[in-house]
Amino acid sequence: MTSTAHKNTSILDPIETASIDELRHTQLQRMRWSLMHAYTNVPFYRKAFDEAGVHPKELETLEDLARFPFTLKNDLRDNYPFNMFAVPMRDIVRIHASSGTTGKPTVVGYTQQDIDTWADVVARSLRAAGAHAGDLVHVAYGYGLFTGGLGAHYGAERLGCTVIPMSGGQTEKQVQLIRDFNPDVIMVTPSYMLNIADEMERQGLDPHELKLRLGIFGAEPWTGTMRTELEQRLGIDAMDIYGLSEVMGPGVGMECIDSKDGPTIWEDHFYPEIIDPNTGEVMPDGEYGELVFTSLSKEALPIIRYRTRDLTRLLPGTARPMRRIDKITGRSDDMLIIRGVNVFPTQIEEQILRIPELAPHYEIIVSRNGNLDQMEIKVELKPNAVGIDAEPRVIKELTHHIKSYIGISTRINVGAPGSLPRSEGKAKHVNDLRKQ
Ligand code: DLL
Repeated sequence: MTSTAHKNTSILDPIETASIDELRHTQLQRMRWSLMHAYTNVPFYRKAFDEAGVHPKELETLEDLARFPFTLKNDLRDNYPFNMFAVPMRDIVRIHASSGTTGKPTVVGYTQQDIDTWADVVARSLRAAGAHAGDLVHVAYGYGLFTGGLGAHYGAERLGCTVIPMSGGQTEKQVQLIRDFNPDVIMVTPSYMLNIADEMERQGLDPHELKLRLGIFGAEPWTGTMRTELEQRLGIDAMDIYGLSEVMGPGVGMECIDSKDGPTIWEDHFYPEIIDPNTGEVMPDGEYGELVFTSLSKEALPIIRYRTRDLTRLLPGTARPMRRIDKITGRSDDMLIIRGVNVFPTQIEEQILRIPELAPHYEIIVSRNGNLDQMEIKVELKPNAVGIDAEPRVIKELTHHIKSYIGISTRINVGAPGSLPRSEGKAKHVNDLRKQ
């Protein structure tokens, strides 16, 4: 028997029950180390700190971090592929990369210790979500360069679970394996879960008859209304996992089953700040802005004040002393400006899900006619809603909701069940023809 088999994996890590003072003390010590590590070993950081006139030795309080410069996605691209690494290549045991929509991918690296920390925080995340040793975990996040699959995998193993490394795609086979293996937990993007649920229905499988009790959903924005939809349809608890490759991968934050009120950020490893995206000024907790992270323990790729582009706010801890984030409204890059009004796809999602006849799939098409922005939303009827009068009623209702809650006029196009493209990973909800 290995040592993990003896370990009681339901016991929290000491830092999960530490006092705020202890937590802040640990953070300050680690932050000093991390800034010095970056400054000493990564020419990019040395230059950036020197240019800003700051030195890691000057960090006396956590608030002093605000004096250090931000790191942007472009900085990682400019240092493609390995120039952001702070350790020699022989100490790098794993590479991941995020595809990005344009240009070069963003490359990240891990030492053995980074991989261990990652497995620990994902195990901690799974436990917070209500999983435990002995659970059978179906991983449908993509394996490969994407951090989702392997990140989930190592964490589930670390907790003592049995892992089914299915990866994304092959939806029919996903359902066959779920039927045959009867997992307790599924880890997948919420949009791909919907696709899998449709396939279950097509195969005549009632998800309520399965053992499945927990879904660990993340890698893309999803709304509270979508949580209700997934929970009712599948008879599970739907839990939000947050993360990004530049900071680690999945497991930077995780929602706790006891409170279900937004991901707790594992602040002993990832220090969060919220900034005003326009001025770069640090905002007080509770105010909305852009989420920024500083890694506190990462060896291979220390990341200092990384601008995630994710918009949310920091909230006080509830189930754990560490702070939580509110549901991510979206990325600043995903914000659409329609005739001067700012719109996030999640706002549209919320309105669609209010209408019982509509399936939770949608596509937003934005175009320009002369000087006028136009928005069209493609939706689908649920199979049981197909009838003679559903369509005009749904169009009227959705147009009205979007006009009164978001303030824009839209054209609604209702398609037959199954007519919209389905996601196998991160959903692409927007097609902005103005950018072409
Ligand atoms: O998506 C890591 C991950 C994998 C997280 C599996 C959770 C589960 P990237 O491909 O680098 O990494 O994309 C990171 O995805 O900046 C957010 O915009 C978005 N994102 C991730 N989790 C959530 C979430 C992975 N729970 C980017 N809610 C992030 C909203 C999320 N957006």
